[in-house]
Amino acid sequence: MADIAGKAHSGVHEGGIAVIDFGSQVTQLIARRIREMHVYCEILPPWTTRERVEALAPKGIVLSGGPASVYGKEAPKLPSFLKDSPWPMLGICYGMQLLSHDLGGKVARLAGSREYGPATLHHSGPSLILRKVPANSQVWMSHGDSVDRIPSGFRTVGRTTTCKHAVMENPKSRVYGLQFHPEVVHTTHGTQILKNFVFDACGCKPNWTMKAFAKEAVARIKAQAGGGRILVALSGGVDSSVTAALVSRAVGKRLIGVFVDNGLLRQGEGVEVIKFLKKQVGVNVRMFDARARFLRRLKGVTDPEKKRKHIGAEFIRVFEDAVRHLPKVEYLAQGTLYPDVIESVSTKGPSAVIKSHHNVGGLPKDMKFKLVEPLRELFKDEVRALGLELGLPRNLLWRHPFPGPGLAVRVLGEINEPRLKVLREADAIFIEELRKSGWYDKVWQAFAVLLPVRTVGVMGDERTYANVVAIRSVDSRDGMTADWSKLPPELLAKVSSRIINEVRGVNRVAYDISSKPPSTIEWE
Ligand code: XMP
Repeated sequence: MADIAGKAHSGVHEGGIAVIDFGSQVTQLIARRIREMHVYCEILPPWTTRERVEALAPKGIVLSGGPASVYGKEAPKLPSFLKDSPWPMLGICYGMQLLSHDLGGKVARLAGSREYGPATLHHSGPSLILRKVPANSQVWMSHGDSVDRIPSGFRTVGRTTTCKHAVMENPKSRVYGLQFHPEVVHTTHGTQILKNFVFDACGCKPNWTMKAFAKEAVARIKAQAGGGRILVALSGGVDSSVTAALVSRAVGKRLIGVFVDNGLLRQGEGVEVIKFLKKQVGVNVRMFDARARFLRRLKGVTDPEKKRKHIGAEFIRVFEDAVRHLPKVEYLAQGTLYPDVIESVSTKGPSAVIKSHHNVGGLPKDMKFKLVEPLRELFKDEVRALGLELGLPRNLLWRHPFPGPGLAVRVLGEINEPRLKVLREADAIFIEELRKSGWYDKVWQAFAVLLPVRTVGVMGDERTYANVVAIRSVDSRDGMTADWSKLPPELLAKVSSRIINEVRGVNRVAYDISSKPPSTIEWE
């Protein structure tokens, strides 16, 4: 995985927790739970180095779960410098098995092949890691192997009917192991267990606040950009607006705001946000009409990854043209978020590349700008909290996320102006109805998708053969996992009937009822 800050950490980043990711689907949740305690947490790959961890200056290490078996040929290993770790460590599921295996215990296959689901954890005695956890509580299991013999120096402090070593600890070296997942909500006292580790075992302080982050980020941007100008690419969305506000605090008038109309925007997109940024944040935004060149570049392109790469590359070319006549614009600020970084860079485990987020994976190698990415460490809800801290209004901060490649990944197949128009109109109706019914703020994100198929319908007495529009609305905390929104049938009926009646060329509307995983939020 990419190095997040790329340099030694300081201030709010210091004294946090490093999570070594062995490929569990829920590794991110560990980081989220810890950050909710106002403690900085960063995810590192299993091949991370001692220097990298030391630069992060954490107070403790969490070893995540993962799909491998410690006996597997390709199984990720415990980094060798952690065998004799100066830091307290907490191994979760595979992390616990690795600890046992590497520290002289024994791991065995479960008799019934796999255990998945709730179990009751029993414990009876004082133990730091189970402090304030009742004698019997529900935990969530998902494993195929388990610890058969704990390493010397450890003791078992919790068990379930199927798992004789569900919790182990070595108080002297402050190393702990949990066979279950404390980071998922189904483990009723999971947050308490993580708190015990973070505060009691590691002695972390809750200093990760957006106020402290803002101060430090401004100082970092000042130091990074020196006296140069920073181009901020605004999209009208939350991330780029918060980035602009932060950069504006750091370098004032040396910020050059650029808004590119790439022809892949939603109806009315961005215009009011740009006005607001000009008025309230004092960011001077230049508009660039690049609709024709983006459409030209995308002509005939149907593969989703190719679309993303082309768009990422074209953006950079437009930015370069936009500042050609200005002296000393060396930097480009982007609102890249932590999940973009994690999803774009393979960690060789299951958190492998799913989509190239255009502002990360799609950048051309010969780009002339140096990147400034002040939000690279943040989750979406942290960005919103930061935005409030910087004085941005709620209605801007709570706009639904919109992907960098825009409608290109929502017009499936070939992209052209007539198809974009159909999608824009359908999408605008859906969003308008969500707003009117009060559902817009209740869901994480909603949008329409134009499918590359036509179906038969009947309008009046005429046969039609026209487009299908899918509408998607999801509930999520940070976009990493999501469930489809249970919108009321009357609302769906209204949206469907309005789209079919008002948008020329559409005769069918489908509601997407897939969750992420196994689907993703966007269709491409
Ligand atoms: P997926 O489709 O990966 O989307 O489940 C997760 C969240 O990320 C948004 N998204 C993107 N945002 N550039 C972005 O800035 C991108 O290339 C991109 N692709 C997806 C998506 O809208 C959802 O909120």
